[in-house]
Amino acid sequence: MKILVTGGTGYIGSHTVVLLIQEGYEVIILDNLSNSKIEVLDSIKEITNIKPQFYQVDLLDYDGVKKIFQENEISGVIHFAGLKAVGESVRIPLDYYNNNITGTLNLLRIMNEHNVKNIIFSSSATVYGMNNESPLYETMPLSTTNPYGATKRMIEDIMRDLYVSDNEWSIVLLRYFNPIGAHESALIGENPNGIPNNLLPYIALVAVGKLDHLNVFGNDYDTIDGTGVRDYIHVVDLAMGHIKALKYAMDHTGAEAINLGTGNGTSVLEIVKAFESASGQHIEYVIQPRRPGDVATCFANSNKAKELLGWSATKNINDMCVDGWNFIAHVTNN
Ligand code: WQD
Repeated sequence: MKILVTGGTGYIGSHTVVLLIQEGYEVIILDNLSNSKIEVLDSIKEITNIKPQFYQVDLLDYDGVKKIFQENEISGVIHFAGLKAVGESVRIPLDYYNNNITGTLNLLRIMNEHNVKNIIFSSSATVYGMNNESPLYETMPLSTTNPYGATKRMIEDIMRDLYVSDNEWSIVLLRYFNPIGAHESALIGENPNGIPNNLLPYIALVAVGKLDHLNVFGNDYDTIDGTGVRDYIHVVDLAMGHIKALKYAMDHTGAEAINLGTGNGTSVLEIVKAFESASGQHIEYVIQPRRPGDVATCFANSNKAKELLGWSATKNINDMCVDGWNFIAHVTNN
């Protein structure tokens, strides 16, 4: 069975491709390499002994995407490809709306033309906005505070409307919380270009000495130690959630939003402590003012994933920090 993975050389995409291959699926990757490296294909081969078919195509290239469906009998799609930096989306909203929305519309049109109606979409907890109290449930009202989050909410709406127009579609909208960590091989992981926006890749660069210290954005929140609390989930657990969602989509029609989180909240300072014990490195930090748009606390209710997909997270914060440290140490030493 051939599965198309858009954004398959990216952080979550590559971990999902590894599991798809290990589960016996034949994988085709579409990626424009705007935020990933083609060498990831070699790492996937080193882990699985299979190098997936690869098309360097942008979803805005309608004919390029169409060619993939003309050349391959595709059974389902896992759709990761998209711009995903919150701050950047505020600075260049038109690029985010064009890339994420138009790209997805192209993909869905071409899938429809080829009667491919199974899709797993990479959504985000960011669609819950700032007015919902954690634990967050899939039935809660959605709102977004930045163009990145707005594209995720809009694409969810587009896919729900698509199902209403044609009940043959099988759509699963996976709302990620905070994915961190790396594959146990340390061959794939999160390695963003430039200065990271997210907490863990930033801490990792402090640990290897590439950044001087961590800026902790606020320690006056109403949380266990005043710093922000999030639901960190191991990227391999997250990847497994996609495999379970794909199997569910193959057996059901509908459009289901499902949280992928652990259901536990961890503060910034608790993460710093965990990364120090996992790496044996001191993480210097400086308390800074709160970051605009941040909520104090955000974590999932993950019952629906357990009930519908038979999925729940298995790895803990220490596993995430050990694997994340091993990856960045491997990348830095090679
Ligand atoms: C986590 C905590 C910060 C950096 C974002 C997106 C979300 C998803 C995951 C794509 C917060 C604090 C962070 C730093 C810090 N992305 N922090 N110093 O904001 O929860 O979620 O990334 O899907 O959509 O919104 O993740 O890692 O940026 O922040 O103190 O240098 O760490 O204030 O409390 P966030 P994050």
